Amino acid sequence: MRVLVLNGPNLGRLGAREPEVYGTTSYTELVDRCERWGSELGLEVEVRQTDDEAELVRWLHEATDAEVSVVLNPAAFTHYSYALRDACAQLTVPLVEVHISNPAAREEFRHTSVISGVAAGTVAGFGVDSYRLALTALAGPASHHR
Ligand code: DQA
Repeated sequence: MRVLVLNGPNLGRLGAREPEVYGTTSYTELVDRCERWGSELGLEVEVRQTDDEAELVRWLHEATDAEVSVVLNPAAFTHYSYALRDACAQLTVPLVEVHISNPAAREEFRHTSVISGVAAGTVAGFGVDSYRLALTALAGPASHHR
């Protein structure tokens, strides 16, 4: 099974970006780990990052057309991008929303996710390990939902 791991704005700066919030693992290390976790779980994982909302929307259309499951860290778009939500809503295969931090324990504006309602589920607050948990969910019974 193929899985696209899509990352939104500022996640390319992992490691350097607010390490007290997001940890010290770099984006390159995150890519390596996701690929390794994927192969351990029997998944063919491809990891991408963009700061551009339109590009994320295009990648979700691509995943929809190819019926590829998605792990999505929408970053700040989580909280306000209806365009991204509408793109996610078209998927006929499962999407798992991930966050490195726990947005519910942070500023008020992070308490809303416009993506959660169209995701199979959400993993948040476990650092980069959130991605491993999301991939594990996709490789298991969670893949039968939505
Ligand atoms: C994030 C949480 C968002 O609120 C924030 O805008 C991000 C990263 C996370 O992974 O914890 O950029 O999605």
